[in-house]
Amino acid sequence: MPEIVYDIVLFLHSILRYVIVVAGVGAVALAIRGLLTRAPFTALADRLGFVYATSLHTQLLVGVVLYGFVSPLTQAAFANMGAAMSSSVLRFYAVEHISIMIVAIIVATIGRVFVRRAKDDAAKNRTAAIFYTISFVLLLVSIPWPWNAEGVARPLNPFYMFGE
Ligand code: HEM
Repeated sequence: MPEIVYDIVLFLHSILRYVIVVAGVGAVALAIRGLLTRAPFTALADRLGFVYATSLHTQLLVGVVLYGFVSPLTQAAFANMGAAMSSSVLRFYAVEHISIMIVAIIVATIGRVFVRRAKDDAAKNRTAAIFYTISFVLLLVSIPWPWNAEGVARPLNPFYMFGE
């Protein structure tokens, strides 16, 4: 796999995280505010939930490409899964990251369906607050941030792979 293909897919995966995090913060904040103040479920809250769920689905596609085809980390793990399980870095990328993210995506998707079906604004705010918060917490703990363990940690700058 040419290095440039890996860099581009990794860059897309890295920058999409910010779309997801911004939409997630907004969707969770508006739902909780609506719940606490008994405010209507606004068009903006609905739009943010849509962007959150849709960007997660796009990220899943990019993640599957990384995971299955281009990431040297997962390819190294697949070459010897048994040994990979005793490396915290390979285990994180081959097992933990993908599993927790898929759960976060499923929770957000189910949440969005339930929000749309909820009968009134109070039910929409409550459903969005519960499902989007659970999904968002799972997401935040599973993103490789710079403060994670060495080897797992990644820079905040989404262009870092093109530097130096
Ligand atoms: C849906 C929410 C997800 C978010 C927010 C997310 C975020 C990230 C971030 C920020 C990185 C570090 C990228 C970098 O080096 O800058 C990463 C790496 C990675 N992600 Fe995800 N990810 C998600 C889902 C997934 C899924 C579902 C998969 C697999 C199907 C996946 C597979 C990978 C792989 C294999 C790497 C390591 C790539 C490498 O360094 O070679 N991700 N992810």
